[in-house]
Amino acid sequence: MKILLIGATGTIGRAVAARLADEHEVISASFSGGDVQVDLGQSESIKAMFETVGKVDAVISTAGQANFAPFQALSDDDYQLALNNKLMGQVNLVRIGAEYVKQGGSITLTSGVLSRQPMPGSASISMANGALESFVKAAALELHQLRLNVVAPVFVKETMAMMGMDTIDGVSAADTAIAYEAAVTGDMHGQTLDITDYI
Ligand SMILES: NC(=O)c1ccc[n+]([C@@H]2O[C@H](COP(=O)([O-])OP(=O)(O)OC[C@H]3O[C@@H](n4cnc5c(N)ncnc54)[C@H](OP(=O)(O)O)[C@@H]3O)[C@@H](O)[C@H]2O)c1
Repeated sequence: MKILLIGATGTIGRAVAARLADEHEVISASFSGGDVQVDLGQSESIKAMFETVGKVDAVISTAGQANFAPFQALSDDDYQLALNNKLMGQVNLVRIGAEYVKQGGSITLTSGVLSRQPMPGSASISMANGALESFVKAAALELHQLRLNVVAPVFVKETMAMMGMDTIDGVSAADTAIAYEAAVTGDMHGQTLDITDYI
């Protein structure tokens, strides 16, 4: 399969690329690196990326920015980042990208378990994650030419280590990548894939 992976240079994206690279042609996209550059926050940039890459069998997004901060500290900019980048950036990948996915192909987005298991500091992230999961469920009802799903990672061990946290409750990026492969090769549609169901 020809797979366009947005966020390919990130912690999860690198692991997804490594898992898929043997069996598939992976085209890497990210903000500043990869085969093609894209800014998820700009629709024109998303259009330009698809024009450059052309038709693919699958699109995977392991991108989407949003900030952790205590509720009282979350600023207008924090909410706008979650809405413009993590939420609408990925929604626009579907709106613009659908016509670039071959018949029977798939688009897989990334939310996060904080939609359903929030924690202090996660309000703007949980907001975007929950909206993404509802969007996927609803949009799938009207997308018949492709499958649309969203993967909800838990805290990744490598990210926890980077933040100086105990990694015991995390899942490695390599294990997280298993759910993305399942979304691309499986037959699910309109689903939120919980990592823990795939490891
Ligand atoms: N890591 C975790 O523990 C965890 C847990 C739950 C959910 N998630 C979700 O999983 C996704 C990936 O997380 P991660 O930890 O792998 O992130 P990461 O390491 O920070 O990587 C982010 C990736 O997204 C790209 N990116 C950043 N801004 C972009 C933009 N405006 N347009 C297009 N691409 C952009 C980056 O490209 P450049 O390298 O070029 O900047 C990079 O490839 C995020 O949606 C995150 O919320 C992560």
